Amino acid sequence: MKNLLNEFEDYLLNNLPSLKTFHPFFEDALGDMLKAGGKRFRPMLLLSVIKSNKSLLIKNSMPVALGLEMLHTYSLIHDDLPSMDNADLRRGFETLHKKYDEVTAILVGDALNTEAFNQISNASLSNDVKIELIKCLSSNGGINGMIIGQAIDCYFENQKLELSQLEYLHIHKTAKLIAASLKMGAIISEYDLETQEKLFNFGIDLGLLFQIQDDIIDETQSEEEAGKTTQNDEAKNSFVNLLGLNGAIKAADELSLKCEETLNTLDKKLKLSLEELLLKYINRHK
Ligand code: IPE
Ligand code: IPE
Ligand code: MG
Ligand code: MG
Ligand code: MG
Repeated sequence: MKNLLNEFEDYLLNNLPSLKTFHPFFEDALGDMLKAGGKRFRPMLLLSVIKSNKSLLIKNSMPVALGLEMLHTYSLIHDDLPSMDNADLRRGFETLHKKYDEVTAILVGDALNTEAFNQISNASLSNDVKIELIKCLSSNGGINGMIIGQAIDCYFENQKLELSQLEYLHIHKTAKLIAASLKMGAIISEYDLETQEKLFNFGIDLGLLFQIQDDIIDETQSEEEAGKTTQNDEAKNSFVNLLGLNGAIKAADELSLKCEETLNTLDKKLKLSLEELLLKYINRHK
């Protein structure tokens, strides 16, 4: 697993967006948040699925893994903007609107969003596969995925949602991109449609768990520990705000059990490969 992560980090560093321009800092700004790190959870999900049955395709899939990380990184840059969550720290560094200015943060986000699809379309994979990947990423990372989740998250600040609406919010803003990462791995690996769907549904549970844990982190960790602004969810429909800290931990416990059970029903190679990556995440809130 470490090797797969190292391979991805090397690929990312060697393929940072570059441009010849007389703008004094835009190229640096494009690379800052990508280089800053983060868990690389989404690319690792994709690569772990591919590793389970088509490890020879890992190299050709690196642009897809990078595309996923670019789209996710754009979502974080915009999420931190003053008009959204207004956060000063991300991945252990000053957010782009703090370090440079708001215009730069908005445009770097825009750039990473489109560059994600440019990366995928240039991968050495079949055109049919690439169309499926682009469909999956654009639908789950776009209007009926992460975007509507973020829109609801921001619109309903200081307005309490029902539990079912809270789940809808978290599934859209976070879980769908995580589910898409697994499904995109399955598309590249040519797993059958049933397996693709099973992995997608597993990703929804996993992503919901991931966001509940993120809400717990906001409540319980310092900025230094989390590497990002915390105690920032006061106005949000977070799981901690709706269920209380213990209620959120209980919801996470239940979902982590469900995720472990689903992992056990996957075919052996898939289970082994995903388990290696996921056990620490499934238990992250404990
Ligand atoms: C944070 O994502 C935002 C959520 C969707 C919960 P990550 O926790 O994956 O952030 P990085 O990529 O590690 O910085
Ligand atoms: C962000 O959720 C989800 C995204 C789509 C970026 P949060 O607002 O909870 O993420 P953090 O806590 O700032 O990382
Ligand atoms: Mg947010
Ligand atoms: Mg935020
Ligand atoms: Mg959060």
